Amino acid sequence: MRALLVGSGGREHALAWKLAQAPSLTDLHAAPGSPGIARLAECHPIRAEDPEGLLALAHSLDIDLVVIGPEAPLVGGVADVLRPAGIAVFGPSAAAAAIEGSKAFAKDVLAAAGVPTAAQLAVARPPCVVKADGLAAGKGVHVCRSDAELDDALKAVTALGGSFIVEELLEGPEVSLFAICDGSDAIALVPAQDFKRAYEGDEGPNTGGMGSFAPIPGLGGDAAEELLELVHRPVLAELRQRGTPFVGLLFAGLMLTPDGPRVLEFNCRFGDPETQSVVPLLEGDLLETLASAAAGALAGASLETSPGTAVTVVLAARTYPAGSDRGSTITGVEEAEAEGVLVFHAGTALHGDRLVTNGGRILSVTGTGVSVAEARAAAYGGADLIAFEGARRREDIALAAAGGETVSRHRS
Ligand code: AMP
Ligand code: GLY
Repeated sequence: MRALLVGSGGREHALAWKLAQAPSLTDLHAAPGSPGIARLAECHPIRAEDPEGLLALAHSLDIDLVVIGPEAPLVGGVADVLRPAGIAVFGPSAAAAAIEGSKAFAKDVLAAAGVPTAAQLAVARPPCVVKADGLAAGKGVHVCRSDAELDDALKAVTALGGSFIVEELLEGPEVSLFAICDGSDAIALVPAQDFKRAYEGDEGPNTGGMGSFAPIPGLGGDAAEELLELVHRPVLAELRQRGTPFVGLLFAGLMLTPDGPRVLEFNCRFGDPETQSVVPLLEGDLLETLASAAAGALAGASLETSPGTAVTVVLAARTYPAGSDRGSTITGVEEAEAEGVLVFHAGTALHGDRLVTNGGRILSVTGTGVSVAEARAAAYGGADLIAFEGARRREDIALAAAGGETVSRHRS
């Protein structure tokens, strides 16, 4: 199969790494890709948000499957240009991607599908959560426990220019559960956890994600299947009934509250940096499974998970999430790889043959092992070898899980 991967982040690098190993792959292409992806695929300088450019590229390369990584091209309708032109796409239409693109739409679908979620509040009063309605790169959500936090949140969402929703503040461990979907059927990938806050101890602003690990102790395959039945399948049925079937990766951000699981959000694509921890644990031919989903023929497909654990630590620019860094030299990537970790590029560029920073999240480092503690030690050991001016990371990724804490599941 000839595959074209769209995107350039750490998530896409992890996907490229897995797709490159697929027995069904003959050629891997990427647009626009990254210096990391360029080691695995032929990169083409076409932007992810350029549907006509991607269509022409897919035709000229005789591509069998396009895999779209980021949310912006999905919400922007890239799949709607490719699919009618006869190109198989793993990624939802704009109408189905609205499950991520609009919080208000997602709430409507959840209500119609009878899936448990945080209640919407008519009045903004702490404690509550304020969410910008549109895409905000993981930065549009504000957890407000005080009047001061609420004031700041309202200013921030107003500055984003769009409408917003207010919902009840829930408590409990969070789970990212990915499902590969073909419009009707879904298969769950191993549950992961993301560390969204900028600083240790879950302090500071929300980011795109500072680290992740998978699987989550206490959430085995049966639990993932139960959650799929509770959340993803009813949503797929609802979207299908609305005439906008979801083909692609449906990512539920869940909170396991004392009253049972609640959906915090949906994303219409693989999560970043969860993908960097999930993908190294998958066995089997991911490309073939994504192609089956794109063809609406997932029935009977499965993806085995290896018994190990993966931990991912993000190396970010000093000022991330507010700012980014460009042009600082990055050293130590090859040394880290030589130690056996996976280094995925998120925001890098090449100046000649010098690898430099080019974004907010710069690299992610994934360690694997038989236990969380072992995977964590590997990830941090690899990250220790990498340096760039202002490099910042959280020191507590998967720390509680490595200490043997399990996620307790409460049912309502
Ligand atoms: P979202 O982008 O909607 O997943 O929100 C980002 C983060 O904000 C989540 O991962 C949670 O940590 C937090 N969050 C979102 N909604 C709620 C809620 N209703 N109650 C508590 N925390 C929330
Ligand atoms: N890590 C969460 C996300 O990808 O939205």
